[in-house]
Amino acid sequence: MKAAVIGATGYTGMVLLRLLEGHPEVDQILAVSSSKPGDPVNGEDPGLGPLSAKYGSTGGKYLSVDQAVSAKPDVVFAALPHLASATVCGPFFGKTVVIDLSADFRIKDRTVFAQAYGQEPPRPDLLDQAVYGLAEWHTEALRKADLIANPGCYTTCSLLPLLPLYREGVVEPRVVINALSGVSGAGKKVELKYLFTERTESVLLYSPGRKHRHTQEIEAELRFTDASARVLFNPHLVPLKRGMEATLVVDLKPGKTLADAERAWAAAYPDRPFARYVGSRIPASAEVWGSNRCDWAAVQEGDSLIVSSVLDNLVKGASGQAVQNMNLRFGLAETAGLSVTNLF
Ligand SMILES: NC(=O)c1ccc[n+]([C@@H]2O[C@H](COP(=O)([O-])OP(=O)(O)OC[C@H]3O[C@@H](n4cnc5c(N)ncnc54)[C@H](OP(=O)(O)O)[C@@H]3O)[C@@H](O)[C@H]2O)c1
Repeated sequence: MKAAVIGATGYTGMVLLRLLEGHPEVDQILAVSSSKPGDPVNGEDPGLGPLSAKYGSTGGKYLSVDQAVSAKPDVVFAALPHLASATVCGPFFGKTVVIDLSADFRIKDRTVFAQAYGQEPPRPDLLDQAVYGLAEWHTEALRKADLIANPGCYTTCSLLPLLPLYREGVVEPRVVINALSGVSGAGKKVELKYLFTERTESVLLYSPGRKHRHTQEIEAELRFTDASARVLFNPHLVPLKRGMEATLVVDLKPGKTLADAERAWAAAYPDRPFARYVGSRIPASAEVWGSNRCDWAAVQEGDSLIVSSVLDNLVKGASGQAVQNMNLRFGLAETAGLSVTNLF
């Protein structure tokens, strides 16, 4: 297979290049960069080491988008900022499978999208055909999708435990999500608040409630299963390079217990290696670092459920799930090129 990564110098693009390098079914990689076409890929990212034969025809250099279009990839990963992504990917739609890591196709309702992103979705004509890329939840639709809207990191971390609870009627509509993210979640950019001196030894609540765009994304997906679902979301920046934890607090419906939640999770994710309820022993984010797993634990406190969910924002929260979606779409083993074990 021939795979292109657009926005290859960014954090999720860099992780995609690493994952595709180790993928048994990908034999050609096109690394695409609008800022560095013609530069050597491992000059920008020496961590990649000597480039393999998979870069053969490109001479190990970043390509322009036009060059990538001419090379006719089987799959395009768009690791670009929201609102730019749908435009840059224009020449690929209808010609190849596009897996978009940005938010441009994640929210179907144009008004809700505009509330979150301040403008109409850039390609409303394609919204209907985009499949939301929560791999364990929309598996069958993803096997046939030509446009995949890869979810946000907070969103995956929250939705994998929450969706089965709403579908099986285990919990009341309102969920409070207090979440912690490593700084790479903001992308590779220079801004005062992301400096080491600002972030080290410090925790920052930012964009609480509807100010954070993932509120609308989480709520939109939950409302497909329970129209009355409501999300109170409190994201925090913590001094980690990468990694994420979401504490989900939700009330149980009368008569429901943790055992009902456990049954809902078991029914939703049988034999799925990357979505794991681990019991009452609460996992640390380091336990999934570098792996494509989302692990969660739960305890019952009176008539409430407290769930702690962890993932690596750059793997299951972004590039790993994107590769998982490619595997589903092309009929490959779901785990191909992905790690179930962490790199701790
Ligand atoms: N970081 C995470 O944990 C995470 C998790 C889930 C989803 N996401 C989403 O994944 C996407 C990429 O995130 P990231 O963290 O990799 O971002 P990033 O580190 O900022 O990289 C984005 C890359 O896109 C290219 N780019 C930037 N502005 C552009 C523009 N106006 N037009 C065309 N290309 C442009 C640049 O690459 P070139 O110069 O090489 O073209 C840049 O390096 C975003 O939509 C983000 O929300 C990120």
